[in-house]
Amino acid sequence: MSLQNDHQHLNDILEATHAAAFEFLESLATRPAGRSPQVLPHDILPEEGLGVQRALSAFREKYEALLSASPGPRYLGFVTGGSTPAALAGDWLVSAYDQNVGSDGDSIATTVERETLGLLRALFALPESFDGAFVSGATQANFVALATARQWAAARLGMDVSEQGLWNVPPVPVLGGSPHASILKALSMLGMGRQVMEYLPCLPGRMAVDQEALARRLAALNGAPAIVVASAGEVNTGDFDDLEALAALCQTYGAWLHVDGAFGLFAACDPARAHLLRGLDAADSITADGHKWLNVPYDSGFVFTRHLALHQQVFKVSAAYLGNGTDLSHRTPEDSRRFRALPAWMTLMAYGRSGYRELVARCCSLAQQMAQGIESSPRFELLAPVRLNIVCFALSGAHVAQRDHFLQALKEDGQVLLTPTFFAGKPAIRAAFVNWSTSEQDIPLILNALEQCAREHVQ
Ligand SMILES: Cc1ncc(COP(=O)(O)O)c(C=O)c1O
Repeated sequence: MSLQNDHQHLNDILEATHAAAFEFLESLATRPAGRSPQVLPHDILPEEGLGVQRALSAFREKYEALLSASPGPRYLGFVTGGSTPAALAGDWLVSAYDQNVGSDGDSIATTVERETLGLLRALFALPESFDGAFVSGATQANFVALATARQWAAARLGMDVSEQGLWNVPPVPVLGGSPHASILKALSMLGMGRQVMEYLPCLPGRMAVDQEALARRLAALNGAPAIVVASAGEVNTGDFDDLEALAALCQTYGAWLHVDGAFGLFAACDPARAHLLRGLDAADSITADGHKWLNVPYDSGFVFTRHLALHQQVFKVSAAYLGNGTDLSHRTPEDSRRFRALPAWMTLMAYGRSGYRELVARCCSLAQQMAQGIESSPRFELLAPVRLNIVCFALSGAHVAQRDHFLQALKEDGQVLLTPTFFAGKPAIRAAFVNWSTSEQDIPLILNALEQCAREHVQ
């Protein structure tokens, strides 16, 4: 089967793809939320290609039933969004349009990314002094933000890391209460090293940093630069650092404030929860994800900073054949870049501020409802108050192996998928609500599945 032949039948191919996509999406509420990976026979590279239609059939036959329903309503593991209809439409068009959003000059696509960043700024009530870029997710956004912070810290010491490297820069402490694991990954990638992260005590029973401990540590630095990493939505409990207090401390002691708001930044959408982000506008850099609460398909995240010049010092790329100094490729690790902004633009325009207000409020209310169910069951124990959209709980009295056995049984049951963690030294379980399609009707299904699995699988 030749490429030319496929090209002649493009419309049929797109229709078959449409049918496959539609069937999958329609199955999301009923297919198992998660599937344990299976060992399958290896694929063999065909000498003569199959053509798209047969390749599609072969894929569906071998793999499709084993895909998880992670974009569906009861996949509550990690922090997993789905894809709104508008985001899906946008994402399909990204592949069809196939624009390279690295440099300005021959397509309006870069303008769309800049406009989308403006829409996000409005959604999060961020001042215009913040600018940024789309990246592949919050890990990459944390990487970009900390690279900019590193540039700032070295500049304070009279050095330019982007030109001279880290060779003569003393370690710059990175301080936080409960940074996400991706912060450590970013520190490793940046050559700053995971060990530069200093974990400060958190407030009793909380994942929010103890500000007095932070103040003492910053004071002890005697004016040396430091980077403070704040959580706006901690991954296990959804807890928030007090950004206003942290921003004041950073101002007093001359530290950089990075806010990781991978999902928690969306608290800004709901007037009842926007107070959790008070002080955000004093941050130096901010991370958020698109593929979580914005509900655009993987992979999508964005980074904002108030220090675009420093940001661009790190990521600038110069060559005679490349474009000018304002291109978006000077803001991200990639040079050639996917048109990631389009699904975000589509969903923001399609559902607007009120759509996201309703979505965020609903997810938070669902988390509360699930927590009430957990609290009223003797089989479970709620470990932390629900501050936003995450329920952190334990199987009463269970040790790690029992918890893991329970989660495996729950996965095999298929109605709901949850993921493990530890909280206050206990083997814990977390449920994160960010999917646009999760509704009140899912809560009894979730609670019944939990009860049944606990009854049947835990002694
Ligand atoms: C607070 C926080 N930061 C960063 C990340 C990493 O996000 P990603 O997997 O999109 O890179 C997550 C993921 O859950 C998160 O919750």
